[in-house]
Amino acid sequence: MTNSYLKKITPGSMAEPVALTAEGKLSEDFAVPSHAEEVKVQMADFAAQHGAAGRRVVLITSGGTKVPLESRTVRFLDNFSSGRRGASSAEYFLESGYAVIFLHRHRSLYPFTRLYSGINLLDSLQLEIGSCGSDQVVVNQQALPNITKVLKLYQAVKEAGLLLPVEFSTLSDYLHLLKAAAQALSPIGSQAMFYLAAAVSDFYIPASDMPEHKIQSSSGPLHISMKMVPKMLTPLVKDWAPQAFVISFKLETDASILLDRARRALDIYRHQAVVGNVLDTRRGYVVVVTPDTQVELVLTDEEAGRGVEIEDRIVSNLAAAHSNFIIQG
Ligand code: PMT
Repeated sequence: MTNSYLKKITPGSMAEPVALTAEGKLSEDFAVPSHAEEVKVQMADFAAQHGAAGRRVVLITSGGTKVPLESRTVRFLDNFSSGRRGASSAEYFLESGYAVIFLHRHRSLYPFTRLYSGINLLDSLQLEIGSCGSDQVVVNQQALPNITKVLKLYQAVKEAGLLLPVEFSTLSDYLHLLKAAAQALSPIGSQAMFYLAAAVSDFYIPASDMPEHKIQSSSGPLHISMKMVPKMLTPLVKDWAPQAFVISFKLETDASILLDRARRALDIYRHQAVVGNVLDTRRGYVVVVTPDTQVELVLTDEEAGRGVEIEDRIVSNLAAAHSNFIIQG
């Protein structure tokens, strides 16, 4: 016998429940995360405070979503993303004067600490005997390059309350928290930017079709049929934050279809820009596509060798476009 309990879900079948209603309500297929309401209030307060101070606020999504296969989850499908694009972009937005809500996958790369993600904490510390004979822990600055500079930046951001981290793990968490963020930022209108760099699953298994317990391999090969995830860009642009400046990302592995896909996304969702990138070259090349323009941003090997990051260029380009958007009303 095979594990075919999921076969009955036929994509596009007439009996399919609506995953996102016309009013933008997510169906019960997507469980509401327990911290959703609390986080929504925090995001609304953050946006109101910075908006009142005349500061722009960017909501960055970062990292991949996780789609569980069982209610008591042992296995899940993941989307590829290290979170580096989102984490480094957050730093450049902060440098450009934005306040940042960082909606990121639990344990993906984080602004500032990302620079030390490959370092073993214990290797960067040294034990010394202090003047009164007690043990003292000293930071080995060679093991943590630029630590003084980075720590100063991080502490300044923290003291000024410019960075609000919000975590997600599953696709359901992501969808609900993105909606909450959009509604929280809506009151500041065009001062808000959405920078959707997360890699979001296009497929999911509805809660009602998921087995409660671990799928048994003794039942044979597993056949999975998944439903389409509603695109959040539609209600985000039309209903939740209609005055905001919205940027989506498009990742492809085939460079020849990238521009076409980016343009198609702009046509469908009618938002302000798409940043197109190809998996293998994403650290050194992106194309920023708007309804009227198309700008390629490229890093030379020499620039990459000096530590220049493409996110610096992406953020400069988009912050300037955001200024024009605000001026044009
Ligand atoms: O994290 P790194 O390792 O640095 O990699 C960065 C990146 C390659 C992940 C990033 O640059 C990137 O391209 N992210 C988007 C990946 C992608 O193509 O996602 P998508 O095709 O699932 O979605 C396209 C856009 O629609 C995205 O902006 C997404 O936020 C949005 N979307 C997706 C699904 C969904 N249900 N609703 C959405 O609105």
